[in-house]
Formats: sequence, C-alpha cells, structure tokens
Amino acid sequence: MKNFLSPNVNNFQPYNPKGDPNNHLGDESLIRMNANESPYPVPKAVLDKAFKSIQDTPLNFYPDTDSTELRRAIGAYLHFPMEQILVGNGSDEMIDVLIKTFVAAGDAVVSHDPTFSMYRIFTEIIGGKYYGVASSNGEDFAINIQGLIDKAKEVRAKAVFLCTPNNPTGLTISKEEVLQVLEETQGMVVIDEAYREFSDQNFLSFIGKSHPNLILLRTFSKAHGLAGVRGGYLLGSPEAVSYMQQVKPPYNLNVFTQKLLSAYLEYIQTAEGRALTRKRIREIRRERNLLYCGLKRIKECEPVPGSGNFISFRIRSPQDKTNPRTDSGVFEESLDEKLRNKGFLIKKFRYQQTPYYRISMGTPEENQRIIQELQTLFSRSK
Ligand SMILES: Cc1ncc(COP(=O)(O)O)c(C=O)c1O
Repeated sequence: MKNFLSPNVNNFQPYNPKGDPNNHLGDESLIRMNANESPYPVPKAVLDKAFKSIQDTPLNFYPDTDSTELRRAIGAYLHFPMEQILVGNGSDEMIDVLIKTFVAAGDAVVSHDPTFSMYRIFTEIIGGKYYGVASSNGEDFAINIQGLIDKAKEVRAKAVFLCTPNNPTGLTISKEEVLQVLEETQGMVVIDEAYREFSDQNFLSFIGKSHPNLILLRTFSKAHGLAGVRGGYLLGSPEAVSYMQQVKPPYNLNVFTQKLLSAYLEYIQTAEGRALTRKRIREIRRERNLLYCGLKRIKECEPVPGSGNFISFRIRSPQDKTNPRTDSGVFEESLDEKLRNKGFLIKKFRYQQTPYYRISMGTPEENQRIIQELQTLFSRSK
C-alpha cells in the first residue's frame, strides 16, 4: 500500500492532535489544558435556538453551499461585507483552501518558527516547500520579521503566514511589522488571528484596496468556546475570496454548524451575550497572567510572556541557569506525564531540541490546582 501513496504524503510528518498515544484524550476525568480550548460551556440560549432551528430545517437536503445566513451574521457582527467572507470547518479548512488556491506543487510558503503546524502540513500535502524562519539569535522565540522577509524574497514565496498572537508562544507581531511584510513581499500574506481576542490586536482595518493580497483567519474554537462545532472563517479582498470560493468543497459546512454558529452570533450581540463573552475573555486574560506569574515564581521555570489563552515555558536546571536540560529521562522530559498522573493534560513541544510545555487556560479553579501541582512537583525535585 505504501507504494500507492502520493510522494508528498509518503515523507511528511503528520499533525497529531492526540499528541502521544498515551495521553488518554478520551478520558473524561482528565482536565484538558493541551489544545487551547475554552473551559466554558456553550450558553444554553444558543443551544436552544440552534436545536429549534435545526428541527425546522429539512435534513434530507444538502445544506446551503454558500452558508449565506452564517456569512451574513458574521458580516453584521464585524460590520464587514459578507462577499468578502468565506467560512469553513474550523480555520484549518480555510488554511487548506487558501493553500490549494494560491500555492502549486514546488511553490514556497514561509512562516516563522515555531508556529501552528498546519501551515506546513497543508503546504507539504500539495507538494509545496515550506520554510519556517527561526528567531535571529536561535535562543528565544522572538519573531524574526526581517529574516522571514528575506526568506520570502529568496524563495519567491506564494504565501507568508503570520500568526499573532503566535501559537505556541503567544508572542505578537506588530502592525508596523505586518505592514513591512505587506510592502516587501510578493505573495499572499495571511494573518492568523485565532487568539486575537486574548490580545489587543485587530487587523480587520488592514483589509482594503491597498492590500488585495491580505487574508485574515479567524475561528470560533478559542475565545468563542465552540471547538467541537468546527467553525472558522477568512476575510479578504473580493477578488481573493472569490477564487477561494471556487476551490472550497461544496456544502462544506453542515446544517448543524451553520445553524449553531448563526444562533451564537445572534446571542453575542444581545446585551447578555456581549456581557458573558467579555467576562469570559477578561477572565482568561487575567488567569493567563496569573499562570505566567505563578510559573515565574518557580525558579526552574522560564515562561514566555504570551498574549494567547495559554502560556509556554521551559525548564532550567537549578544548578545551571544557562542550559536547559535536554537529556531524556530527567524530570522535565516527563513533566507532561507527571501532570497527566495528577489529572492534567498539557502539551509538550520541542524548539531547537529543547523541550517546552504549553498550558492552556482552564477555569480559575483548574488553573490554581495546576500551579499548586507544579509547585509541589518542583519542590520535590530538589
Ligand atoms: C494559530 C491557529 N490557527 C488555527 C487553528 C485551527 O483552529 P480551528 O480549525 O479550530 O478553527 C489553531 C488551533 O489550534 C491555531 O492554534
């Protein structure tokens, strides 16, 4: 069978949302702090409205292929023309459609490293060449905008992905830097705003006549707490969106997703819905800052001051403040396992061979419990 595979798929490193095979994602008793999801349930008013509207919809027919009602609702929410909005099964599907529309086999796609891995994966699946540009000193996570621009020019990138706040670091890219990329590169420029609500950034006003090649990606999975529904969208110039519209699969959003997201958008424009969303976002931002400070107080932990709904950190040896321990079998290699044994799922990743951990915000109680657990684990490790 392997010899039947497309060569692009044969050699590539897949995304593994479940992480390692032992992470017990299906185990309901574990607290999920590994996928940047929201800890809050969907408001009942939204579910009631969506279920009612699904009951009134004939399910023997395909859904509206253009998701007209939903795009109209997003447009009304953002005060943005619905013709310039495309919706999909999470922003994942939007990344896929965007790459299929603008990148061909052999073409280059550039982003910063580390970042969200689906940019690389969808590029490699269609036979494109992906370049992740590391920070200039190779040590910290600072996004190397000049390096990224130089690389994009060198390889004539068809698309440049800018993730701000960036996953997995939470670091942001400034307006000036985005403008510099727009001015100095030739291909599509994509700003992934999946975590926008947890920062003060908003690039909506950048979409206009002067940047027809700019695309924004947004999702309902993070601040809006609807990861299970799978809804995301992109915003761009009328011309760019019309091309992607032709490439997206027909009927891509099922009836349930279209109805639920429309009901949700209606709800968050009511006084109650607006207040609840604001309160939840404010709470996550506050909790994130508390987690950052809590990790800072553990002298072996070196957290990154991020602006997402998560904090990433690495562990330094108490004996040697300059070198993170990287050898396997010692404490930090198994921190995710240790926390799993205590009932928490967190994400582990590597950057320049160094292991890092990323903790997504839970409820205030869950966050407090994980910090206490970390304090105990580190005090025992001495
Ligand atoms: C930066 C970034 N973009 C996009 C996504 C995909 O989100 P979704 O497909 O749920 O909209 C994620 C998910 O973690 C992400 O971190």
